[in-house]
Amino acid sequence: MLRCRLQVLGTLYLIIYNAFCLRLTELRIEEHTLVGNSTRLECKYDLQGEKLYTVKWYKDGNEFYRFLPGESPEVQVFEVTGVHVDEKQSTAESVVLKSLELASSGKYRCEVSAEAPSFQTVTNHSSMLTVAPPDEGPRISGGQDRYKPGDTVNVNCTSGRSKPAVQLAWYINGEQVNSSYLRGPYTEYVGREGLMVTTLGLKFEAGMQHFRSAATGHQQRNRHDRDMKLKCVATLGTVYWKSKEQSALAHRPRVASGAPVSTADGGLNADEQDADSRADPVHASSDSPSIYIAQSIKTNEISVFVSASLFVVLLR
Ligand SMILES: *[C@@H]1O[C@H](CO)[C@@H](O)[C@H](O)[C@H]1NC(C)=O
Ligand SMILES: *[C@@H]1O[C@H](CO)[C@@H](O)[C@H](O)[C@H]1NC(C)=O
Ligand SMILES: *[C@@H]1O[C@H](CO)[C@@H](O)[C@H](O)[C@H]1NC(C)=O
Ligand SMILES: *[C@@H]1O[C@H](CO)[C@@H](O)[C@H](O)[C@H]1NC(C)=O
Repeated sequence: MLRCRLQVLGTLYLIIYNAFCLRLTELRIEEHTLVGNSTRLECKYDLQGEKLYTVKWYKDGNEFYRFLPGESPEVQVFEVTGVHVDEKQSTAESVVLKSLELASSGKYRCEVSAEAPSFQTVTNHSSMLTVAPPDEGPRISGGQDRYKPGDTVNVNCTSGRSKPAVQLAWYINGEQVNSSYLRGPYTEYVGREGLMVTTLGLKFEAGMQHFRSAATGHQQRNRHDRDMKLKCVATLGTVYWKSKEQSALAHRPRVASGAPVSTADGGLNADEQDADSRADPVHASSDSPSIYIAQSIKTNEISVFVSASLFVVLLR
């Protein structure tokens, strides 16, 4: 404001025309966007009696959009890597970027200028990160169907490919595990675009305290079985998180207990829903986990959920 006053004082014309200050009132750029989606960058301004000369948009210092009212054409678009302007939907106050890609991430700047004689210019910028959500849910590998106290549980959770890398966490019966149980995480680059796969190992000696009564929630099974549920949750950034559980349920060997016939293979049972999981709305299947992408209207947060857990039973 002060700079503007000085400019006004220093310019006779402006005093005569009783000009005021051009102001940027709002710059709205989503902090996180998804590869393949589109987004609207908004730049609102108050001309305060001035006449608009031009609105320009830059990505990392390179101009990609120019709006010139009254000119023909009114809109000019320049080629910049990672930027695909949807001209039909862009206006003097907003620009729509379509077909977002990883290279769309960057610093976006809006610059508004008033007509002569003041040529006042106001500008502001904000960053956008375009993320590639994991292409599939995390997988749990290396687990057995049955463990007895004293056995070593040694399993891995491996994420799908994403950018940035996801963060993985292990839960035993719904509780996040002691970090002394963890191995890794190990992150590996795959492909040319810098997509990443993360693996987090879980290794510990099974004790009675790790098994709980299996009766709750699994009424159809032998009420005396005890089981352990291992769950792996993947999170992408603070805004972006993804969870996957994989369930494998095994019954006690039928000879040992005389219990009802088990699913002999102790195979994956992905229908189990984890009551305390934030991934509740999703039914995962072991070979094609459904990925649920949601965007909160209030916060523009993006979330991805996939779920599965590994169930093992206590072998006595
Ligand atoms: C995808 O883009 C549309 C239009 O910009 C938006 O409404 C929607 O919330 C976006 N979806 C996600 C998951 O970002
Ligand atoms: C620039 O934009 C940010 C939000 O992106 C806002 O907090 C800040 O006040 C703006 N600065 C100016 C000078 O308009
Ligand atoms: C887990 O993954 C790590 C790193 O890829 C590997 O060295 C280890 O052998 C794996 N462990 C199991 C139990 O699969
Ligand atoms: C994690 O386990 C170690 C070794 O068993 C123990 O000393 C430590 O207190 C545990 N930490 C937590 C937070 O439970």
